[in-house]
Amino acid sequence: MTVRTIQAGPFEGQKPGTSGLRKKTRVFMEPGYVECFLQAIFNSIGGAEGKTLVVGGDGRYFNREAIQIILKMAAANGAAKMIVGQDGLLSTPAVSNLIRQRKADGGLVLSASHNPGGIDEDFGLKYNVSNGGPAPEGITEEIFAQTQTISSYRIFDAPDLDLTALGASGLGGMTVEIVDPVADYAALMEQLFDFGKIRDLFAGGFTMRFDAMHAVTGPYAKAILEGKLGAEPGTVLNAVPSVDFGGGHPDPNPVWAKPLVDLVMSDQAPDFAAASDGDGDRNMILGKGIYVTPSDSLAVLAANAHLAPGYAKGLAGVARSMPTSTAADRVAEALGIGHYETPTGWKFFGNLLDAGKVTLCGEESAGTGSDHVREKDGLWAVLLWLNILAETRLSVKDMMAAHWQRYGRNYYSRHDYEAVPTDDANQLMDDLRAKLTEFPGMTFAGLTVSACDDFAYLDPVDGSKSLKQGIRFLFEGGARAVFRLSGTGTVGATLRIYLEKLETDAAKLFENTQAALAPVIQAAGEMSELDRLGRAEPDVIT
Ligand code: G1P
Ligand code: ZN
Repeated sequence: MTVRTIQAGPFEGQKPGTSGLRKKTRVFMEPGYVECFLQAIFNSIGGAEGKTLVVGGDGRYFNREAIQIILKMAAANGAAKMIVGQDGLLSTPAVSNLIRQRKADGGLVLSASHNPGGIDEDFGLKYNVSNGGPAPEGITEEIFAQTQTISSYRIFDAPDLDLTALGASGLGGMTVEIVDPVADYAALMEQLFDFGKIRDLFAGGFTMRFDAMHAVTGPYAKAILEGKLGAEPGTVLNAVPSVDFGGGHPDPNPVWAKPLVDLVMSDQAPDFAAASDGDGDRNMILGKGIYVTPSDSLAVLAANAHLAPGYAKGLAGVARSMPTSTAADRVAEALGIGHYETPTGWKFFGNLLDAGKVTLCGEESAGTGSDHVREKDGLWAVLLWLNILAETRLSVKDMMAAHWQRYGRNYYSRHDYEAVPTDDANQLMDDLRAKLTEFPGMTFAGLTVSACDDFAYLDPVDGSKSLKQGIRFLFEGGARAVFRLSGTGTVGATLRIYLEKLETDAAKLFENTQAALAPVIQAAGEMSELDRLGRAEPDVIT
């Protein structure tokens, strides 16, 4: 076995996004591609020498092959130890937990999250740092800079390692430890939640369906929900991870998890239902006859988290991404705790969590989490919901009704326009930006703009600034529209329009969401001259 230095590069990467590098799988499979990107990561963290890293992925096509390359390159770069999920599997929150539990220097997550998988679909690689969270902008900028100048990478010439057998082995001078992907994560969940109470709930006949969407949470949900909590066998659907997620989009929203939504709206509805995405960090919450928006879910969890043992002391504060509805803010105000509004992307929560300023955080895109790890965590959100339902014995519908009656309801929806020509999308945003000083006082569809800005964030912990994070309009009466271009789309530009309307009239709390939002939708369309995109309707409504 020898270390080879291979001439390659520079590497055609991309500016760092919110979630590492995502490309078509075939691009990642090009000879030298993963290698150059990984060498750029190692170079930008001062080398892998002596480091301990966690590695695992969501099981999508090329997961195992990429892990073999990573292990051989880590060995050639002098890493001390690699902690690898059995069969190459680890959910993103489980990677975050392992980095923290084992005091590793960082970790590598192989996933394109909720994007489809397969040789013709997407793959991704992300570097997380020692707090368990995604690399901060300083490091991702450095990785990008390294990709521009890289000329070689180092790799160990060795046969592939067996990723199926638990335990430690060696590769050159490096230790490779294969771990059960579920065990440490399940132990953490057992500390945070009252498993006894949840077991009692299931024992009393409470029914649930969890759709793992053929992705990484299957083994986690089986072990925890059916194994430890006694939910009936068959509670977990699509539980075996497959390289192409059964040909679907592993994205837990009413569009891609439609069968589950249809189920809860039918007369076969279980008491509770949930789904998670490709890498296990997103969640969707459903009850008999009801879909809970992620923004509402964050607010309900904030209001009731103290019912779970891990949060019995109360919350330090709550953070939400700017486009997420303001429902959680009102809960924080009622609790007398801090609330923060950050740019889109989980990494902005990391500083607030590390500084102890917030305990819970969430995004409208189905991400919810807490200070237990430094990633959003799908199954964690499901378990917190279960713990709260086990304590209150309320149905999801009654839980939501009580919440809205107390705090008011933020009707909320996101309209996505996908694969928009990049120039057209940029033009639309630039036109809005150009008129920011003119808009206040103007009326669209009966709604008068009271304020608008291009959201800028000053990190209260490290003082860093993030500009141009989305254009937001506040209307008199508490409605809001936000325009933002996606940072994760892979074809053209994705325009996201986030629409929100606060309703406090008790007689109007149970209306159809799109109907309740109709004036805001119309106003957003008029003010952005949306017709210019030539689209009759959004591609995705969530
Ligand atoms: C999307 C979501 C965002 C999330 C990110 C990574 O990013 O909107 O909330 O943090 O995926 O999962 P976007 O495509 O909007 O940039
Ligand atoms: Zn994800």
